[in-house]
Amino acid sequence: VVENWVWAASLRLEVDGSRVESELKELRRFSDTAAPDVTRILYTQSDLDARDYLRRLFKEEGLVIREDAIGNIFARWPGKSADSPAIGTGSHCDAIPFSGMYDGTVGVVGALEAIRALKRSGFRPVRSIEILVFTSEEPTRFGIGCLGSRALTGVLKPLDLMKLLDVNNTSFDQARFAAGYTDKLENIELSESYYDGFIELHIEQGPELEKGGIDVGVVTAIAAPAQLEVTFKGDGGHAGALLMHLRNDALLAGAELAIETEKAALAKGTRDTVVTTGSFDIAPNTVNSVPRHAKLGIDVRDIDEQRRDSVLEIIISRAAEIATARRVEHSVRVLNKDSPADSAVELVRALEDSADQLNFSHQRMVSRAYHDSLFIAAKFPTAMLFIPCRDGISHRPDEYASEEAISKGVLALAHTLAKLSSA
Ligand code: GLV
Ligand code: MN
Ligand code: MN
Ligand code: MN
Repeated sequence: VVENWVWAASLRLEVDGSRVESELKELRRFSDTAAPDVTRILYTQSDLDARDYLRRLFKEEGLVIREDAIGNIFARWPGKSADSPAIGTGSHCDAIPFSGMYDGTVGVVGALEAIRALKRSGFRPVRSIEILVFTSEEPTRFGIGCLGSRALTGVLKPLDLMKLLDVNNTSFDQARFAAGYTDKLENIELSESYYDGFIELHIEQGPELEKGGIDVGVVTAIAAPAQLEVTFKGDGGHAGALLMHLRNDALLAGAELAIETEKAALAKGTRDTVVTTGSFDIAPNTVNSVPRHAKLGIDVRDIDEQRRDSVLEIIISRAAEIATARRVEHSVRVLNKDSPADSAVELVRALEDSADQLNFSHQRMVSRAYHDSLFIAAKFPTAMLFIPCRDGISHRPDEYASEEAISKGVLALAHTLAKLSSA
C-alpha cells in the first residue's frame, strides 16, 4: 500500500477550478426559487433537470451510469480490475428551500473534476472509481434525510420507504414512479463488498477551517441526528368571542415547547448539544381564530448519543406536561434517531497523507451536520473531507466557498482516490 502512496505522490494533478465553478453555477439554475436562492426538492422538475445535467456531464467523461429504483445515480470509471470492490465518492444535489449552491454539489461536481484530473494525468485505476449522487439527503419532501444512503445500506427497507408520505399525501412510491424510477425497491441495497472505501467531499458548514486558515478538514466522526414531530390539538375558536380562560391554544403549547427545547439543550452545558425547532405549522393560521393545531419539527443533535437521547426524553416529557397544563391533546413521533459514525482510521490517514503531500494544512474535526456518509460508514470504510466556507454559513443563499478552497479539496480528493484505487 505504501508503495502506491509514494507513487501517487508523484502524480501531476491539475484541477480546473473555474470549470467546477461554472458547473456549480449551471447547477444552481435548477431551482424553484430565484437566484441566489436555491430550492431543489426531491423529484421536482428542478431536481430532475439537475440530475439530467449531471448525467450529461458524467457521460461526456465516458463514465458508466446506472440509477437505482429511487434515483441514486452511480457513475463509474471502470478500473483494470473491474470485479474488485470499487472506491466510492460523491454527495447530494438536492437543496433545502431558500438555501445555497455549494452544500452537496461540491462533492458531486468535485468528484467529477477529480476523475477528470486523474484522467488528464494519465492515471488509470486498478479498482473502479465511482461517483454516487445520493437521492434526497435533505429531509424536505418526505420528512427524513439521507433517504438514498439509508436505503443503500438497509437502514430503510422497501416497506419503510413505501410508508413515506409527503405533505400532499403523495406516497413515496407514487412520487418515484412519476419521476421515472420504476425498478423494484428490493434491488437497492448494496452488497457488503460493493465499496472498498468511500470518501465524501463537502463544505464544512461551520467556521473552524476559515478561522484557522486551514486548507482542509479531515472528518473523524459525524454527530448523531434525531428528529421529532410533535403535534398539539386544541379546540380553537373565535379570537374575539372566546374568553382567555376558556381557551386551549395549540400554538401557545407549541411555543412553550420550543422554549423548553432551547432550555434542554443549554442545560447540558456543552457546545456539542444543539436543538432546533425548525418548523412550526399552525392551523387554521388566520389572525382572528385561536390556533387549533400546532405541529413542530424538532431537530436534536449531539456527538454523544446518550446525551442526545436524554435531551430527546426531556423534550418528550415536557411536551406531555405542557399538553396537560394547557388541556390540549398531543402526539409525539420520533422520525429518526441515528447513531453517530466514526470515520475509518486508514482513510483518515490517507486523506492526511494526501494533504501533507500537497502541502495543504489540515485539521481533524467532527461533522456537526449529517451527511449520507453517516450511513455509508456503517457498511463501508468511510471518511469525509471538508473545505472552508465563508463565515461558516450554510443552509442560506449566501453560502459560499471560493474556487481556491474547492480546488484544493478536489486535488486532495483526487490524490486520495488515486492511492485507494491503485491496488
Ligand atoms: C444536513 O443537511 C443536515 O441537516 O445536517
Ligand atoms: Mn444540507
Ligand atoms: Mn450536504
Ligand atoms: Mn500532517
